[in-house]
Order: sequence, then C-alpha cells, then structure tokens
Amino acid sequence: MKIYLDNGATTKVDDEVVKAVTKYFTAEYGNSSSIHQVGRAAKEALENSREIIAKSLNAEPEEIIFTSGGTESNNLAIKGIAFANKEKGNHIIITKVEHDCVLNACRWLETQGFKITYLDVDKEGFIDLEQLKSSINNKTILVSVIHGNNEIGTINDLEAIGKICKENKVLFHTDACQSFTKTEIDVKKQNLDLATINAHKIHGPKGVGALYIKKYTKIIPLFHGGGQEFNKRSGTVNVSGIVGFAKAVELANKADIEKMEKLRDKLINQVLKEISHTMLNGPRKKRLCNNVDISFEFIEGESLLMRLDDQGIEVSTGSACSSKSLEPSHVLLAIGLKHETAHGTLRMTLSKYTTEKEIDKTIKVLKEEVAALRVMSPLVKD
Ligand SMILES: Cc1ncc(COP(=O)(O)O)c(C=O)c1O
Repeated sequence: MKIYLDNGATTKVDDEVVKAVTKYFTAEYGNSSSIHQVGRAAKEALENSREIIAKSLNAEPEEIIFTSGGTESNNLAIKGIAFANKEKGNHIIITKVEHDCVLNACRWLETQGFKITYLDVDKEGFIDLEQLKSSINNKTILVSVIHGNNEIGTINDLEAIGKICKENKVLFHTDACQSFTKTEIDVKKQNLDLATINAHKIHGPKGVGALYIKKYTKIIPLFHGGGQEFNKRSGTVNVSGIVGFAKAVELANKADIEKMEKLRDKLINQVLKEISHTMLNGPRKKRLCNNVDISFEFIEGESLLMRLDDQGIEVSTGSACSSKSLEPSHVLLAIGLKHETAHGTLRMTLSKYTTEKEIDKTIKVLKEEVAALRVMSPLVKD
C-alpha cells in the first residue's frame, strides 16, 4: 500500500478535474483571445472559471488575474505593488516564515532600494499584531503575511491584520496557497487588497494560479505583451488549466475538511502519546486541516523520511528546503527550534483521499522506525 502524505507539496489531480481539463485540450482548444467559435468557447470557459474563483473569495470576477501559480502571483503582488508605489514609499513588511518565493522576491527588492521588515513570530508561528502596528511607518506601502503556513500549518488572523492595514492606509497581501478552500478567505471581510492562490494544492493542475487584485489597485505587470488578463498578465491564457482550477474549487467541500481534521488530530495525538520525545510544531487550534508537523528528538528527519519511503509512506522533512540546502528550515528556526530539533522534523500533510487505515499504518511504521533509528543514534543518552 502506498501512502501519500505530502499534500502540502502537491496533490493528486481529481478525476473530475482531469475530465474537465481534457475537453479544453481536445475539443475546445481555442485561444481565448480569438474571435471565431472555438476561441469564443475558450473565452466563455475562462470567464466562467473566473466567476467561480472570484465567488469563492467573495471578490468580483474582474479582480481575478490568472497566472502560472503561487510563485508568479506572489512575485506579481510584491514587485508589482512595490514599483507602482515607489513614489509613495519604499518600505514593505513581511514575516520571517513566508514561503521562499515571497522571501526571495523581497530580498531582491532590497537590491533595488526597497527596505523590508521581517516580522518575528511566536513559538506557534503567529505574528504579534503590536509589532506589526509599530513597524508601519510613513514609507510603508505593503504588508504581506502568509495565511496558512506551508510547514507548520499556522493560520494567521487575516481579519485582524487587515484592520490594522486599513487603519494605517497600507496595502495588504496574503499568500493563501495552503489555506485556499481549507479555511475561509473573504477579501472584503478581511480587507485584502491582494491574495495569492494556486490550483495544485487543491487537486487541480500544476502551473496555474491566480492573484486577487482589489479594483483600482495600481500594479506594474511582470510581463509585457499582448495585454491579456486586463493588461496585468500578458501571455496566451492557460484555459485548460484554469478550467481545471475552477473545477477543483467547485469540488472542495466542508465534509472533506472535517474528515482531514479528524485524521490530522488522530495522527498528532497518537504520535505524541506513543512516541516519546516528540513535539508538535505549530498550534493545536487555528491550524490547517491537513497539516501535521512533528519533531522527533535524537534522529535525523531525512533518515526517517527514507525509511518511511522504503515502506511506501511519502512525507517531507521540515529541515531541508526545496533547494536541497542542509540549512534547517527558516520557519522552524523562526519559531525557536534548536538546529538539531529542526533537523529531526517531519511534515505529514493529508488530503481528502487520506484514509484512517493509512493513518493507522503510518503511526505503526513511525513507532518502529523511530525506535530503530534511536537505537543507532549517538545523540541518545543512556
Ligand atoms: C505557501 C506557498 N506559497 C507559494 C507556493 C508556490 O506555489 P507554486 O508551486 O504554484 O508556484 C507554495 C507551494 O509550494 C506554497 O506552499
């Protein structure tokens, strides 16, 4: 039995999504900018998808710009707002636990004369609202805070952050790639000016995402070309991918979330109870419904990952980032973990396809493999 517990990295594409996408590869393959029938059919599918996605965020269709995914949307949001507002100010506030695409976009902006504040987080991964307030100055143009953390599952309070941004007249962006369809995003209630979402975390295709940009928000595009997507993202539109994205949004439902929460809690509780010297990273409440992130003292997360993989259980470590660096994860360090503890961390992320039997098997194998590694570990003291 193969058990896939790396849904934070990506998800299996839903069969319904495959069906929806296929139609726009084979029968309705037109360019949505073409005027003839097959072009008009593509345009209709595009606008229908835009409506579905806008509705899921409580936004207007013309506020949704389709992109190639979360990385592009985050880059467009941050660089696009920075350059559109450089007369007004050059200061941006983010957190120390953002995804690399936000962090690295901001590090690059520093080379272009922008000033970035990297907010601390507490041991559960939440920002301090007072620190946010006191970091805003008259040059601040944008605050960007991740919604659901991709490593430790912390869900930040967008409404409270949005209120502070509104009171201080600064734009507010969130990276909602992990939280989209898993917890509420309401751009009006949360006072969002920009929000990043993508399809492949929700059983949609890879290489498609969207950026919500509030009406009348000035933004400089990353790409210049034919003026597609309201002049904000040129390039032939990925109609099939977008149709698949909208189908994935339509398929998301509360029952699946509740099922994931139940299995998540079972996995957390059993591991913490049955394996000594373990610690949950991230909060118990206000946590992504599919995220389990646990540190196992005295062992290497990579070794545990490989042993689980040998048994058909696919997870990820919290210690090595996607660039295969040996540095511990910046998120785990930001919540105060020691390097050794960060290196002994596993992230297990569930999906609507995860079953109780798979969770039971994972707990059993984890117990055996952690015990086997600890017997060999020079870090275990007698
Ligand atoms: C929080 C977060 N932001 C951004 C991204 C990047 O999204 P994409 O893979 O669509 O470029 C990811 C996915 O790894 C993510 O988890």
